[in-house]
Amino acid sequence: MKSVSIQPTQNLSGKIKIPGDKSISHRAVMFSALSEGKSIIDNLQFGEDVKATIQCFQALGVSIQLQGEQVIITGQGLQGLKAPTQVLDCGNSGTTLRLMMGILAGQSFASTLTGDASLNRRPMDRVMTPLLQMGAKIREERLSPTQRFIHIEPSLGLKGIHYISPIASAQVKSCLALAGLYAQGETVVEEPSLSRNHTEILFKAKGVDIESKGTKLRLRPSRLTPLNLTIPGDISSAAFFLVAGSIVAKGEIELEQVGVNPTRTGIIDVLKSMGAKVMVSPLPTQGGEAVATLVVRHSQLKPCHVKGPLVPRLIDEIPVLAVAAAKALGRSEFRDVGELRVKESDRIATLANELQKLGIVVTPKPEAFWVQGGTPLQGAHFHSHGDHRIAMSMAVAALVAQGPSWIDDVECVGTSYLKFWSHLSAIGVPVSLDS
Ligand code: S3P
Repeated sequence: MKSVSIQPTQNLSGKIKIPGDKSISHRAVMFSALSEGKSIIDNLQFGEDVKATIQCFQALGVSIQLQGEQVIITGQGLQGLKAPTQVLDCGNSGTTLRLMMGILAGQSFASTLTGDASLNRRPMDRVMTPLLQMGAKIREERLSPTQRFIHIEPSLGLKGIHYISPIASAQVKSCLALAGLYAQGETVVEEPSLSRNHTEILFKAKGVDIESKGTKLRLRPSRLTPLNLTIPGDISSAAFFLVAGSIVAKGEIELEQVGVNPTRTGIIDVLKSMGAKVMVSPLPTQGGEAVATLVVRHSQLKPCHVKGPLVPRLIDEIPVLAVAAAKALGRSEFRDVGELRVKESDRIATLANELQKLGIVVTPKPEAFWVQGGTPLQGAHFHSHGDHRIAMSMAVAALVAQGPSWIDDVECVGTSYLKFWSHLSAIGVPVSLDS
């Protein structure tokens, strides 16, 4: 089990090239594999989650090759996947599992999916219920709280449905859109508020007959054309530096080529509402996705109030935003965040646990939590709970604590950000990795 030690610092400066967006990377691999011909992808993110998606498609007979910095994917078309000879392991990745279920539900062969202990605990009924309504043959085999297999049999033919989702989830929406490619008739998905729309953008670019208006998407079965893509930097990874740059006393951090799709920029909006100095300089779009250079400098933060339709726009950034809240003068409130309970860890519980070690009062509720910020933070011995975003958020908190901090069990950071520790060190953080 690897751990890391971090010393507080007064100054952070430098430029960081943020790795490719994880959500777009999954989709680039999946949709290229289903396209008719070769796609070349630049700046694909190579964390463990995206590797799980790549391995699933290799097991389904798709050629995916690394050439220098580029990934070449030879798409087999919607009907060209081969029956796998092994269980498809989605590792820690909810996006891999939920989106693969939509694709595999439409195949003429059987398949079985599983994941690691954390993923096997997470709810899949949110995609199984509508997929069953479409005519999919899916069954969950639960062996223990941490062991599960999802078995998918060939169906007699999927049919399009009009599904009103009870949750704003891009994974649910994308799973059904993928199944809709194999269904007879139209598939319509409505969600209570808009979740990230990378599937809609990339489907349109690949010629899929899809229409999205507000929180509703409508799609008809279509073939996908191959497309060369450059993936923008991941705003969810940039978020750690946006908060670090805001709370550390001196310096300036520049983050290059970060994706600023409006369905993902809740973190920038909230940090600005807290008084953060974040400058956004737009760049040309990449594959239909908005991109910008971000620059951040220190400021004294005010508390934040996060709730409602803002939540899906920053769902993965709440752990690090809670660290910003710990430095803000006053009480911050995070409401309507029950989804955090079913992420890579129960993030309301794990955040409360870890932030309290800093000497901060955190009040967890079933679907909300409050952070009472403004008192000095104490260096502490943190645990990641196997959750990459908890590990990286605590590393940011450690920058402004009094005294050194340690974080245990940090291998999980590789899920989304392999170079996180070297990037922290490059902007001046005294960090050392021990095994
Ligand atoms: C993702 C959607 C979000 C997000 C996850 C990635 C995606 O999950 O939390 O990290 O790529 O579609 P939900 O759709 O479950 O909210």
